[in-house]
Amino acid sequence: MSERERITIFDTTLRDGEQSPGCSMTVDEKLRMAHQLDRLGVDVIEAGFPISSDGDFHAVQAVARDVRRPVIAALARCRREDIERAWQALQGAARPRIHAFLATSDIHLQHKLRISQRECLEQARDAVRFAKSFCEDVEFSPEDATRSDVDFLCEVLEAVVEAGATTVNIPDTVGYTVPSEFAELITRIRQQVRGIGRVVISAHCHDDLGLATANSLAAVGAGARQVEGTVNGIGERAGNTSLEEFVMAVRVRSDRHSFETGVVSQQLYPASQLLSEITGAAVQPNKAIVGRNAFAHEAGIHQDGIIKNALTYEIMTPESVGVPGTSLVLGKHSGRHALGLRCEQLGFRLERRELDLVYRRFLALADSHKTVTDHQILELVTNGRRMLDRSDASVAHHESLASQFPLAYLGKGAPAQVDRVAPSFVHDHDGEQQEDYLWGV
Ligand code: KIV
Ligand code: ZN
Repeated sequence: MSERERITIFDTTLRDGEQSPGCSMTVDEKLRMAHQLDRLGVDVIEAGFPISSDGDFHAVQAVARDVRRPVIAALARCRREDIERAWQALQGAARPRIHAFLATSDIHLQHKLRISQRECLEQARDAVRFAKSFCEDVEFSPEDATRSDVDFLCEVLEAVVEAGATTVNIPDTVGYTVPSEFAELITRIRQQVRGIGRVVISAHCHDDLGLATANSLAAVGAGARQVEGTVNGIGERAGNTSLEEFVMAVRVRSDRHSFETGVVSQQLYPASQLLSEITGAAVQPNKAIVGRNAFAHEAGIHQDGIIKNALTYEIMTPESVGVPGTSLVLGKHSGRHALGLRCEQLGFRLERRELDLVYRRFLALADSHKTVTDHQILELVTNGRRMLDRSDASVAHHESLASQFPLAYLGKGAPAQVDRVAPSFVHDHDGEQQEDYLWGV
């Protein structure tokens, strides 16, 4: 098997992520999250921007002191006071990194910083030299790199590499680039910047066009070896590259990439949940990898496939990203197999004729409700049994199982979901072909 190249994962949930409106965190909350990022196996944690507030200074200090395995980075503008403050905050760190940034695009130089390209180049070089006098590990970011003049960008990068930067990060600050263009930029930097081979090239993408993960993948394809991102993709405006998406794209499509990360993928969902709990920012239901619906199936044809073999509609197992299990949500698109399976899990094994009757009544109910609850399903079963005027023998009632699910015990509001494992049901229905909504009707 060919050797895979390791991509450094730089997590900026506690810095760029915290810049999401409503996502600010206290020192204790940042510390809790940093310990989870450590369990997740990220290589670098950017803990904050120490000059920006006392709270951020103390948060970086606390993370630097308590979290020992990953590199701990602190952000600084290319100013002496910022760099000194960052270094102070990093004092207790086992593996500190100073991350200095300065915009290089004309629009930022003219309208925001009001400095010339010359002044920009000198500030960047001086700041990196100054940071280097404290810390061996220095990262430099030319903010708004993707809208900068490429020759000038390369000049600045060459100057900071010569001044001792160990990582040069290429930010798509406003989420403007597209994958092919970003790959070309990384390639051009590798060709044009003297000394670039001595340092790590990093990609830092924003998601304003929904392309952050795709752009990060394009960057590593072109030679970047560090990717910056956040849990749940939180961050300034539309957010940053979602770490869970990047990590799982590399892992699931290992046939298309020769890279790997050190991330413990089973910790992705716990990290997502913890962040959401801390910030109060819900994850969108259809969010890839960690959204509530990422492993939920409602359509009958899909549920039928999942019951027979999960590979039919899942490209990774929920367990591989730490999600407790697949859920088959019972609604109007659900099929007979999923309903029959849920009845069995609730203690009732239905014959074909019985399932047929219950299914028809279930569809009528599901048409007027978003989802159907376990309680409603059990009512359909018991009423259906009465309608068929059959004795207990006509519906094989698994006494022991059914007694675990008395009607009164079931939550009346919770949507019915089919548990993942159902070998006996699959076996009994082995001979059946594809899901037939109209079967027996
Ligand atoms: O998006 C950006 O340009 C940044 C830099 C500070 C790296 O967050
Ligand atoms: Zn950013």
